[in-house]
Amino acid sequence: MINRETIDNIVTTARIEEVIGDYVNLRRRGVNMLGLCPFHNEKTPSFTVSPAKGIYKCFGCGKAGNSVNFIMEHEHFSYPEALKYLARKYNIEVEEEVQTPEQLLELNEKESLYNLNLFAQQYFTKSLLETAEGKSVGLSYFKERGIREDLIHKFQLGFSPDKWDAFSENATQNGYKREFLIKTGLSLEKDNRLYDRFHSRVIFPIHSPSGRVVGFGGRILGSDKNRPKYVNSPESDIYNKSKTLYGIYFAKNAIISKDNCLLVEGYTDVISMHQAGIDNVVASSGTSLTYDQVHMIQRYTSNISILYDGDPAGIKASFRGIDIIVEQGMNVKIVLFPNGEDPDSYARKHHPSEVESFVNENAVNFILFKTRLLLGETQNDPIKKAALIREIVNTISLIPDSISRSLYVKECSALMAISEQVLMSELNKILRAKLKKSSPGLDKELEAIPVEQIPSETQTDIDLYSAEYQERDVIRLLLLYGHDIIRIKLRNTDEEEVSVQVADYVVNDLVNDEMGFENAIFKTIFDEFHKGADIDEIPDGNWFLSHHNSEISLAAVNLVFTNYNLSPNWFKNNIMITTEKTRLHMYVMFALRAYKARKLDKMMSEIQKKLAVESNPEQQRDLQKAYLELKKQSIRINKDGLGRIITR
Ligand code: UTP
Ligand code: MN
Repeated sequence: MINRETIDNIVTTARIEEVIGDYVNLRRRGVNMLGLCPFHNEKTPSFTVSPAKGIYKCFGCGKAGNSVNFIMEHEHFSYPEALKYLARKYNIEVEEEVQTPEQLLELNEKESLYNLNLFAQQYFTKSLLETAEGKSVGLSYFKERGIREDLIHKFQLGFSPDKWDAFSENATQNGYKREFLIKTGLSLEKDNRLYDRFHSRVIFPIHSPSGRVVGFGGRILGSDKNRPKYVNSPESDIYNKSKTLYGIYFAKNAIISKDNCLLVEGYTDVISMHQAGIDNVVASSGTSLTYDQVHMIQRYTSNISILYDGDPAGIKASFRGIDIIVEQGMNVKIVLFPNGEDPDSYARKHHPSEVESFVNENAVNFILFKTRLLLGETQNDPIKKAALIREIVNTISLIPDSISRSLYVKECSALMAISEQVLMSELNKILRAKLKKSSPGLDKELEAIPVEQIPSETQTDIDLYSAEYQERDVIRLLLLYGHDIIRIKLRNTDEEEVSVQVADYVVNDLVNDEMGFENAIFKTIFDEFHKGADIDEIPDGNWFLSHHNSEISLAAVNLVFTNYNLSPNWFKNNIMITTEKTRLHMYVMFALRAYKARKLDKMMSEIQKKLAVESNPEQQRDLQKAYLELKKQSIRINKDGLGRIITR
């Protein structure tokens, strides 16, 4: 039993945002922090953490509690296990009241497996670093591979000696039970005797996201053809291959801060990349990528780059795994290494900065990568090409977001020299088929989906008063509704109402008032509308979504998203669009006025600043005149239309 004082100490020391931050990528939202809930599958964050109150609550699934509850829930720990975990994290010594032998026996089985693994890891490390055999065989193997000592320590690499039962015997002598030796797979049983699974191998411990050893990989030394190169721990209560990523414990902070996760094949790739200073890297180790692994990564980032050695067969085999990522709405990029190289060998041969720039410069979006790869194989064979179209469109159809989908349709149509319409109709066929498949009981399904509540903090996400915002909003309206018609009253013509297109009106109004855009990208977009309006060819907002300048297409995509920052569901159900559309006139006026008012405010405060330091009376007068001019304009703008009262 842990005594009361220790419990209090643990509970007050453990900061909830740090405890949860080990598992969830939290972003600040006002006084709270927000992330993707680790307890249910969601794409929009509704998991809220209050550092001030020391609690969390998920508005999606309702799970809530303090840091101890979180660890219990997440790691499936008992209360004392969770406390011990936190104590370890914060270096708090746990004072336990003396345990009876019965209580010792009751020590949870999982905890026993973890304990044994920890013991084994320490044993292997000692064998590597402190025994003559370890040093001459194991350590020199790692050295030969070019693995530095700090990496050997960091990844807790080890060595299992060339004796059939060296470890099993040592563990037994130290009181570890046969039952657990077998359950962890460290030992194999034959003729009632225990043998070491990993004998005569170098050891790679596999860590959970919180740093506990859940299993091991062992590699033969050199290249003995008669033994498998690698053996791994079998599945157990604490080791589930398909839910584990090698290196996640050492990578998660970097994944969060770089907002990207590099995925490699195995142990040596992870370690070599770390050695080259690239630490946002994990390995799926043998299995092709699973849903659970993708989900684990998604807690930290929605960007994955997969690093391949250049073997097309292997790459194609992994397409299904990649589709899983696409389906999660994540961005997947592919980095192909030159023939015969894998991340490990490449990192060993090149300077760390070269590795980094190689990865950055060669990352290609998955869908485009797939299109190019398959296109190279079709060689103008029309039948193969038809199959390719279906294949690509199938992948595109997995993307949950319709705007991204249409972006890819455009890019693929260009790549494959096939009209967009053909791809679109193929895509719609697939989407309809999917809908049909899921439609029996669709109404019920929809009913069953809990209404997603967005914590109010998200709504103040945008600084409503920054100039950026007003510029952004004007451009957003142009992109979304440039072609729509609004009816306005002309100022000097006795209240006559006329119909104009939004883009026409906005362009004229801003050009008349000589208002420019500060942001270069917004300026470019505005200029294109301006040019278009002049020759009566207002550009289509969608056109910008796939603009050849990727900065512009990205900005456009983001802008079109802006308003459903508030709630993606609004957008999905077109609620936002409907309300905005029905009151389009008002929104346009409002956006224009906010934009101009903000501009004028800025110009006026510039003048005031100049006035404060200007000593020449002549200049002072000019500045004052200019100021008054702006003030007048500002009053006019604020009186216009909606009759908003000026508050300053
Ligand atoms: P490699 O075959 O390149 O392993 O596989 P290696 O240890 O780097 O061997 P050499 O020196 O190039 O010949 C790369 C990764 O694939 C996983 C391991 O994680 C390894 O780091 N792997 C490979 C296995 O899990 N099992 C295997 O049998 C082979
Ligand atoms: Mn290798």
